Amino acid sequence: MIAATGTYTTLRHNLRGRSPRFIATQRSAQFQREAARRVLAGYDTKLARLKAESPCQGAYYYASLVPSWIGREPNAEPNALKYLRDGEAHINKWPKHFLRYMTSVKKGYELGVGPGFLLRYLIDVEGADMRGCDLDPAKNLIFRDLRDELGLAHRVDVHAVKSGQPIPVPEGCDSVFGFWTVFTETWSLSDHAWFLDHCREHLIGEKRVFMLFNSRGYDDHPEIQDYYIRRGAEFPYLANPAANMHPRDRNAFCILRL
Ligand SMILES: C[S@@+](CC[C@H](N)C(=O)[O-])C[C@H]1O[C@@H](n2cnc3c(N)ncnc32)[C@H](O)[C@@H]1O
Repeated sequence: MIAATGTYTTLRHNLRGRSPRFIATQRSAQFQREAARRVLAGYDTKLARLKAESPCQGAYYYASLVPSWIGREPNAEPNALKYLRDGEAHINKWPKHFLRYMTSVKKGYELGVGPGFLLRYLIDVEGADMRGCDLDPAKNLIFRDLRDELGLAHRVDVHAVKSGQPIPVPEGCDSVFGFWTVFTETWSLSDHAWFLDHCREHLIGEKRVFMLFNSRGYDDHPEIQDYYIRRGAEFPYLANPAANMHPRDRNAFCILRL
């Protein structure tokens, strides 16, 4: 049973008379916020201990959480930390901007699950049967710990999406999701054509693909934008609606029925 803390008492009060969908969204968001807080608290405790033991080690601790980061920028924070530091914004952006386009998803697959917030919302709010894939979790401990706290570890395949290599979309999925996709940054038009045809082959029902492009590989490639438009993509947002987080990125969001 959930303890009647101040937060939950306020949440219960705010939910009176609201629709089941609204209630499910608020409950999911609350669960995700608390999971993100627990993960952050775990890292802060470790960081504080390391700082006390050795100031130098402390400064590098966060970087060491994502080994691949070390080679690139030893002093920079790992990118994944923003999902903890700005957890509230990253959790809220889904109901604020995107979930309204995802009603009626029954079974879906997310490419590059990352922190897992979208997967959790689709399970909790849509009642969707969700799985997804991401790179080796040992290479990104923040994402691994978040997905554990969100109860998603068993739903995420270790798989790197590469053009021309089959994506493990389970049988019976109606939707594929790719948000802030890193793997498309170097893709040519023929890679995108392969990707959309591959999704069409493996989806059933509405056969929808939801994509939020990183600026690189999309904004700088007008022919790719034209291609998606020609294949019938709708663009509810041509620029990132959560622009306060990435003011320089456009991040077009599209929905394609295949
Ligand atoms: C910018 S994050 C976005 C996470 C999540 N989709 C979201 O919107 O919150 C990109 C994610 O894609 C994953 N990723 C990068 N390259 C990938 C690839 N080739 N195949 C699968 N996942 C990949 C990263 O590990 C990371 O979790």
